[in-house]
Amino acid sequence: MGEALNGLKRTIMCGEIRESHLGQKHVVMGWVQRKRNLGGLVFLDLRDREGILQVVFGEGINKAAFEKADLVKSEYCVAVEGEVVKREAPNENIPTGMIELKGESIKILSESETPPIYIKENLDTDEMIRLKYRYLDLRRPDMQKIFKIRHKTAKIVRDFLDENGFLEMETPMLTKSTPEGARDYVVPSRNYPGMFYALPQSPQLFKQLLMVSGYDKYFQIVKCFRDEDLRANRQPEFTQIDMELSFVDMEDIISLNEKLIQKIFKEVKNVGVKLPIRRMPYSEAMNKYGSDKPDLRFGMEIVDISDIVKECDFKVFKDALENGGSVRAISVPNSADMGRKQIDKLTDFVKTFKAKGLAWIAYKEGEIKSPISKFLKEEEIGAIINKIDAKFGDLILIVADKNSVVLQSLGALRLDMAKKLELLKDNKEFNFVWITEFPLVSYNEEEERYQAEHHPFTAPMDEDIPFLETDPGRVRAKAYDIVLNGEELGGGSIRIHDTSLQEKMFQVLGFTKESAWERFGFLLDAFKFGPPPHGGLAYGFDRMVMFLAETENIKDVIAFPKNQNAYCPLTEAPNVIDQKQLMELNINFQEK
Ligand code: AMO
Ligand code: AMP
Repeated sequence: MGEALNGLKRTIMCGEIRESHLGQKHVVMGWVQRKRNLGGLVFLDLRDREGILQVVFGEGINKAAFEKADLVKSEYCVAVEGEVVKREAPNENIPTGMIELKGESIKILSESETPPIYIKENLDTDEMIRLKYRYLDLRRPDMQKIFKIRHKTAKIVRDFLDENGFLEMETPMLTKSTPEGARDYVVPSRNYPGMFYALPQSPQLFKQLLMVSGYDKYFQIVKCFRDEDLRANRQPEFTQIDMELSFVDMEDIISLNEKLIQKIFKEVKNVGVKLPIRRMPYSEAMNKYGSDKPDLRFGMEIVDISDIVKECDFKVFKDALENGGSVRAISVPNSADMGRKQIDKLTDFVKTFKAKGLAWIAYKEGEIKSPISKFLKEEEIGAIINKIDAKFGDLILIVADKNSVVLQSLGALRLDMAKKLELLKDNKEFNFVWITEFPLVSYNEEEERYQAEHHPFTAPMDEDIPFLETDPGRVRAKAYDIVLNGEELGGGSIRIHDTSLQEKMFQVLGFTKESAWERFGFLLDAFKFGPPPHGGLAYGFDRMVMFLAETENIKDVIAFPKNQNAYCPLTEAPNVIDQKQLMELNINFQEK
């Protein structure tokens, strides 16, 4: 049974009816959340995007409607006409709880099989099933709430950027490899057998071309594609709020974006963001937090104790220092009584970050316990406690190694301990920080060459340009990331617009003139024609919505996401394609 509307018009959404509508006649349409037959009365909980409404049919109100209403089951799609009346037993828990609709007629617009998942809030069904029946999963009120937040956020961004003189422009999806550094998704070309388009990892090069073209301020809310290992905050196709501006420096971009962030968090979450947002140079973030996206909602900062232990008898510490490394520590509150087994687990944890071990000092009133106390003088232990400002009950955890290993492992341990101690449990804070002064390049030991930290068009800081030729690793970039509660929300940079500087940069990165032209020739060509000074920034839009919707799973904020293996259980993509399509594309598979 699937009745036609036959001209019947909805007059209001289910979730919008209030006491002010009492006495009015209305037509609502939606899905049956639940039906109850209490003898002479049938109650339907009718759901649409705006909420749930109770509808009551009675033998005494309209017998035909009552009998038809009794036929419906969960998730039937129906239209009901009736009068808004006061509810005998009000339900304080829902906005429509003071009223109900006295059903005078009902159309069954379509029937539904028993749904394979519950349509309810906080569903904990297996993710595979949720994704396979995503259209049902998306009927759930908590999901619908998220997509309203997503819509609202996009609208605020559009309005704000429009008011600030930005033009929204699209850039191609079928294009050439972009320089963000992940693996590309590629599309075979029929016209050019054996050749491929790459889907954009970001609109980076095109937005720079738009600056050359004089569009001055560009933005786009745009899909980007990266074939990389997936995590809770990474999807193979994700959305950026992408922007680029001409005739600006870093301060202009940061101050504009602070206003945007402030507006979004005020209007979506009613949370005030205090401006200016704190800034921290990359080197400080790494040294104190072992991360370029530090979570500043708690302390437990990393402290360098190399100078204290440089004369000690512990060979592990001495060797690390002699090899140019360091010895550093964090002090974990209320953990001095941690058992050996648990400490062994922490040791295994830091070993996954290539640390060779984990030394510790349990600092209790009247007692200091440590496996390395035999190697350290009392004054040395005292100096460590002093420098790290440990309190009674703290457990000091120490790693000695080369700097990158020490910082990475202690940075990860710091986060792990905060989680274990539930330091952030009821923390509702939104702690923003700009990370600045990133290194321009880093040395790739495997490939024995420098690589761009951001991308090869990022400008060096003016005062560091002389080091480009002598000590590239020391050069800082005009790059900035906006970090929120330990997650990278967005990042950008001022770009190089001077051809000779760009050539120098390519030399540092080991590009030959030919290979640079092969990859980016069209941009280099364009830069022959008066490129303006320019720079930009891109936010991970999905990540932003995750914060606004308070979810830790990026799949919750994307209507049709892929699973952890970049597979879509709903459409079953990726999938084989027809032999005919393969032939047209000139693709043959060889047996391995
Ligand atoms: P970047 O590579 O830092 O910069 O990307 C910008 C932001 O996009 C988000 N992001 C992702 N979100 C979900 N899934 C992913 N796989 C994923 N990868 C990145 C992050 C990140 O901060 N063109 C430059 C920007 C510029 O310089 O203007 C760029 O793409 O939140
Ligand atoms: P050992 O004398 O080898 O048993 O080591 C004493 C303590 O030092 C143990 O708790 C080890 O986990 C720790 N340790 C070993 N290597 C390192 C290292 N590179 N950094 C910090 N602690 C270490």
